[in-house]
Amino acid sequence: MTRAITYSAFGGPDVLTLTDVPASDPGPGQLAVRIEAAGVNPIDGKLRSGLRPSGEISEPRRTGSDAAGIVTSVGEGAEGFRVGDAVVLFGASGTYADEVVVDAANAQPRPPEVSAAEGAAIGIPVGTAYQSLRSLAVGPSDTLLIHAGSGAVGQAAIQLAVLWGARVVATASPRRFDRVRALGATPVAYGEGLAERVRDATPDGITVALDAAGTDEAIQTSLELVADRDRIATIVRGRDAGSFGIRAFSGGSPEGLSPRQQEWRREAVPVAIALMAAGRFSVELGPSFALADATQAHRALESGTDGKITLLP
Ligand SMILES: NC(=O)c1ccc[n+]([C@@H]2O[C@H](COP(=O)([O-])OP(=O)(O)OC[C@H]3O[C@@H](n4cnc5c(N)ncnc54)[C@H](OP(=O)(O)O)[C@@H]3O)[C@@H](O)[C@H]2O)c1
Repeated sequence: MTRAITYSAFGGPDVLTLTDVPASDPGPGQLAVRIEAAGVNPIDGKLRSGLRPSGEISEPRRTGSDAAGIVTSVGEGAEGFRVGDAVVLFGASGTYADEVVVDAANAQPRPPEVSAAEGAAIGIPVGTAYQSLRSLAVGPSDTLLIHAGSGAVGQAAIQLAVLWGARVVATASPRRFDRVRALGATPVAYGEGLAERVRDATPDGITVALDAAGTDEAIQTSLELVADRDRIATIVRGRDAGSFGIRAFSGGSPEGLSPRQQEWRREAVPVAIALMAAGRFSVELGPSFALADATQAHRALESGTDGKITLLP
C-alpha cells in the first residue's frame, strides 16, 4: 500500500483525505516515481470544489498533476530512464501521494541545480505561460501587459517574454513590485485607474495582453489598450472570453487546446528545466506542507500565498 490524498465528494478543503491506496507497478512505457514534492495549483482547488466541472465522483478520486521525485521502477519500453533518476512530472494524475505511476512522456530528467520543490512548480504554470505566449506570437516588437504578474503563471510569462525580447508591464500588489521588477517587468498596481497607470508606464502603447487574473478590470483594461482582439487572451475567463471577442486558453473555455497548443505546454517543461539549470529562469517557492496536511495547503491556496505551495511527502 501507499498513501495518497483523495476526495469522495466535491467541497471545501476538508474533503481532502489521506488514504491508503494499493501501490501499482508501471505498465509498458510507464515509470513508478517516489514523490519528493508535489505542486499545488489553483486548478486542483477548482476541481475539488466542483467549480470546474469534472464528472460525477464514483470512487475516491486522487488529485494533483505536477511533482518531482525519484524513479523507483521502469516499465518495459520506457526509454531513457533508470531506477534512481531524479525527474520532474507534469500532466500526471494523482501526484498528491507518496508514489505515482506515470507515462514516461509525462516525466523529464531533473538536473541537480533544480530542487525537488522547484521541479514541482514547473508543469502547469510554466506550460501555460509558454503556450500562451507562443500562441500570441510574443516577440521583440511587442510590449506585453500581464495581469497577475506576481502569480506563478505571471512570473513565468514575464521571464519568458523578456527572454524573447519583449518589453513587459505586469500588474501586482505593491508589496510584490520588487519581485516583478527583478524578473524584468515594470510593475503596475491593479485596481481603479489601472488603464491610466499602464498608459503612463508605456508611452508607445501595449501590443498584446495576457490575463491570469480573471477580473472584469483585467479584461476591460486589455480591451481598452490593445487594438487587435486576437492578441488578447485569458487563461481564467474561458467561459465568457468569446463574448468579448478575445482568445481563451483552457480556463473553462468550451474549446479545448489545439494539438499544437498541447505540444507547446509539454515543450515548456524541458525548456524551463534547462533555463533553470543555467540560472536564467526561476520559480518562487511559497509555503510547504506535509502530505497529511493537504487540507491546510488548500486553505492556503484559497487565501493566496506568495510563491508556489508544495506538499512534501
Ligand atoms: N487556463 C489554464 O490552463 C490555466 C493554467 C494555470 C492557471 N490558470 C488560472 O490562472 C490563474 C492564476 O494562476 P496562478 O497559478 O498564477 O495563481 P497564483 O500563483 O495563486 O497567483 C494569483 C495572482 O493573482 C493576483 N491577483 C489577486 N487579485 C487580483 C486582482 N484583483 N487583479 C489582478 N491580479 C490579482 C495575485 O497578485 P498579488 O499577490 O500581487 O496581489 C497573485 O499573484 C488562476 O485562476 C488559475 O486557475 C489557468
